[in-house]
Amino acid sequence: MSYNFDEIIPRANTNSVKYDLREKLFGRDDVLPMWVADMDFRVPPPVSEAISKRTRHEIYGYSIRPESFYQAVMRWTERRYHWPIAREWLTFTPGIVPGVNLSIMTLTEPGDKVMIQPPVYFPFFQAVKKNGRQLVENRLFLHEGRYHIDMEDFEKQLKSGVKLFILSNPHNPGGSVWTRGELKTMGELCCRYGALIIADEIHSDIVFPGHVYTPMASISEEIKQNTVTFLAPSKTFNIAGLTTSVGIIPNRKFRGLFNEMIERIHLAHGNIFGNVALEAAYNYGEQWLEELISYLTGNVQLINEFIEDHIPGIQLIKPEGTYLAWLDCRELPVENDRLNRFMVERAGVGMNEGSAFGENGTGFQRLNFGCPRKTLRTALENIEQAVGEIL
Ligand SMILES: Cc1ncc(COP(=O)(O)O)c(C=O)c1O
Repeated sequence: MSYNFDEIIPRANTNSVKYDLREKLFGRDDVLPMWVADMDFRVPPPVSEAISKRTRHEIYGYSIRPESFYQAVMRWTERRYHWPIAREWLTFTPGIVPGVNLSIMTLTEPGDKVMIQPPVYFPFFQAVKKNGRQLVENRLFLHEGRYHIDMEDFEKQLKSGVKLFILSNPHNPGGSVWTRGELKTMGELCCRYGALIIADEIHSDIVFPGHVYTPMASISEEIKQNTVTFLAPSKTFNIAGLTTSVGIIPNRKFRGLFNEMIERIHLAHGNIFGNVALEAAYNYGEQWLEELISYLTGNVQLINEFIEDHIPGIQLIKPEGTYLAWLDCRELPVENDRLNRFMVERAGVGMNEGSAFGENGTGFQRLNFGCPRKTLRTALENIEQAVGEIL
């Protein structure tokens, strides 16, 4: 290993959402924060060097994204995913949630049906409801420790007139890295019933051995023309605060509508540090990423073994990708609506409440394991002790 992922870097008092909102959210500022999805690791050295270099110029006025920005994205998808993309398909967004919201606003009409797959990343619910669209749920189901798609229900919902489907691939919080077969079935059904696909593939880069991320839009020409994909270096390289991501929209009509809105509300400027960070990450961050994935693989192994050996009443839904572990706590003798408080008060661990991801997330907690192993071990030991006191 050339990078030290074991190093504990203090983050309190840096205006960090994860650390500095603890008092407000959990009622204690000493809770171990294992919630919002950023990591406690330093970024790859080429990224911090590129940002430092840019800061030294000392003028941070309006700037453009150079051609090399887009080339870096194109080389990344080609090299990592064997997915060649054309320059003109690319568009900038200051984050993926804004991209998902803008897609709903520009590519559907008020009242249209929009489908999601709970338990799923909670801003999807808000994106549908707050834009005045009708929420349709195709709930995932657990089978042998993995989340699966109910394809019969998927088709039934599409038949009822769904206009847009928001996919999370790999899936947050369940951790499924959807297979080519699963994506092909969903993609073809969406084409058949005329539902556009928004593929939120922000977690694409963090996939564990034995699993392969496939871009939904890479499956066939027909699916490509029916899919708007969002990608970003934000989760991968721990640069979410630089709010720089991209949309990939091969369909000319959809691209026109989307870009017209981006221009109308002057969203295209972006962030000069985000621009240089994206380029540095995609051009020179690959070695770091490989080491990150093996470190996170070790973290998954630790959670899996620790829970199996020491924490009765909790089951890990073993993630195939992402740095988020979905813990099934339904067998614990704690009321569902007390579970998150129990973890905060008795274990001193702050996780995401499962029911925020949909009704079928009730009884679950989401644990962010993008942290040094020592921190993770402490969290697990604390949970073990708290659970031990009530069993
Ligand atoms: C599935 C998914 N989409 C989007 C985001 C956040 O996107 P952004 O911060 O770029 O808006 C997250 C962050 O956790 C996520 O898990």
